[in-house]
Amino acid sequence: MDKVRFGIIGVGNMGMYHINYFNTLENASIEAICDADAKKLDTAAAKAPGAKKFSTYQELISSGAVDAVLVATPHFQHPEIAIAAFEKGLHVLCEKPEAVTVKEARRMNAAADAHPKLKFSLNFQMRTSPLLNKNIEGGDKVACCTSFDDQEFPSHEPSSFLRLN
Ligand SMILES: NC(=O)c1ccc[n+]([C@@H]2O[C@H](COP(=O)([O-])OP(=O)(O)OC[C@H]3O[C@@H](n4cnc5c(N)ncnc54)[C@H](O)[C@@H]3O)[C@@H](O)[C@H]2O)c1
Repeated sequence: MDKVRFGIIGVGNMGMYHINYFNTLENASIEAICDADAKKLDTAAAKAPGAKKFSTYQELISSGAVDAVLVATPHFQHPEIAIAAFEKGLHVLCEKPEAVTVKEARRMNAAADAHPKLKFSLNFQMRTSPLLNKNIEGGDKVACCTSFDDQEFPSHEPSSFLRLN
């Protein structure tokens, strides 16, 4: 597979964040987008003109247009959508948190385990922050408190973290 064909499910804040950098990736493309809100779908379509548009995730994952989905809907829907995607043979990249209950997260993990040839990843990008890792290695407890209206997440600066000890 030269290029992974992605479908983005949920094109609100985070879905749009992903759409805005996707065309810089060499090995991935956006082939489909989905949102329950028609206005948001149209806004996203302007940024991803070649992508097929769907108003339900069921239609997107059944379309044959994608190899993988990026799930960026509200938390509680992550397990349902991810499990349905695995069952259609699609790789899943899901926004954090995985689920809102441990039971649902385990159900999602079990579905991933049942499809070992499919990739499953959760987007905990802050865990790769050099500052956070440095402090964890150093034994400090650090909580991330980056503002959610700061879409670029530019500051992995000390000021955006709350030191707990
Ligand atoms: N990794 C990060 O740093 C980060 C940052 C912000 C948000 N998130 C996560 O991203 C997810 C989305 O957050 P957001 O801020 O983008 O929310 P949002 O409300 O802006 O966007 C969610 C979108 O999903 C759509 N939607 C809802 N139900 C749907 C369905 N069944 N099918 C298709 N579309 C549906 C909504 O219409 C909306 O456009 C959350 O789980 C959140 O925790 C992660």
